[in-house]
Amino acid sequence: MTGSRLLGTGSALPERVVTNADLARQIDTSDEWIVERTGIRQRYIAGEGETTATLATDAARAALADAGIAASDIDLIVLATATPDNTFPASATKVQHALGCGPCVAFDVAAVCSGFLYALATADSLLTTGMGKHALVIGAETFSRILDWDDRATCVLFGDGAGAAVLGAPDNANPASAGGPGLLASKLHADGAHHDLLYVDGGPSTTQTVGHLRMSGREVFRHAVTNLSSVLGEVLEQAGVEAEAIDWVVPHQANRRILDATAKKLGIPGEKVIVTVDRHANTSAASVPLALDTARRDGRIRPGDLVMFEAMGGGFTWGASLMRL
Ligand code: UT7
Repeated sequence: MTGSRLLGTGSALPERVVTNADLARQIDTSDEWIVERTGIRQRYIAGEGETTATLATDAARAALADAGIAASDIDLIVLATATPDNTFPASATKVQHALGCGPCVAFDVAAVCSGFLYALATADSLLTTGMGKHALVIGAETFSRILDWDDRATCVLFGDGAGAAVLGAPDNANPASAGGPGLLASKLHADGAHHDLLYVDGGPSTTQTVGHLRMSGREVFRHAVTNLSSVLGEVLEQAGVEAEAIDWVVPHQANRRILDATAKKLGIPGEKVIVTVDRHANTSAASVPLALDTARRDGRIRPGDLVMFEAMGGGFTWGASLMRL
């Protein structure tokens, strides 16, 4: 059972923009290398007073305004993040308090770059089984705070930001399964065997430090294209939909080359893929909702469109969801 409907989206970015040229003044890199290998031209970096929870709150406020839903009508907040404000409590509870939501359910989901897909499927399951009428699903990150700024192979790739979606419980009078708006299918996967290819080398129960992000980029790239192509196929099959029917793909924005290679494998034309990696870089769990909000606000993604979301990240975790807007 599935079918929750998208009622609104919002996003938030830190004030400060850092270009490739800015980075090239601090570390041994160049705009040419970063653009050619990743498609990234700039990223937003959180400053003093900007945290995962403040960005998440701003994105959520914008999503509520877009949906025309009051904070007091939210029954559930699922916040996907790998960079919470504190080890506990969940940053979702900070967002709940800041928005004035009242005594709703609020928790974080840690699935790194696939976090928004995990949060979306979780919120959909809870709404579908009657836990509430409205959910806020948020992806928010401040990866700049776990980067090793001396490691040029990783620090140029990431940025900070947040994106949010308001979901409404399935409309039984006009269900997604009968052509109405709503989530049609979701698939999630994890494979802990690849922990060391993408991880943070610290944590409360190991080093008692926050740690820094470590990645074997080339291996992650290879797994990403394979895993994403296969999960997209699974979701299409589950929904009984052909790839040609998809209006838009909203992918996790890790690397322009991964977006192109995955679309090509599925035979989806590049014009149907929403790309924001050039402006936002890799914002982990925030990247899918940030890209979705960008494309809804600039008028590309419209009501009635069939939209595929997909992401892969540390764990490894990966997943995809198909939704009719
Ligand atoms: O969001 C989670 C999922 N993450 C991903 O999907 C990331 C997947 N991986 C990637 O996007 C790519 O592998 C990278 C963009 C990280 C790297 O691209 P690559 O084509 O795989 O390059 P590489 O790591 O094999 O490095 C090639 C060269 C190396 O030099 P040598 O050994 O060939 O002389 C690196 O030292 O590029 C060098 N290099 C750099 N040069 C300039 C690495 N980082 C930089 C840099 N500036 N920032």
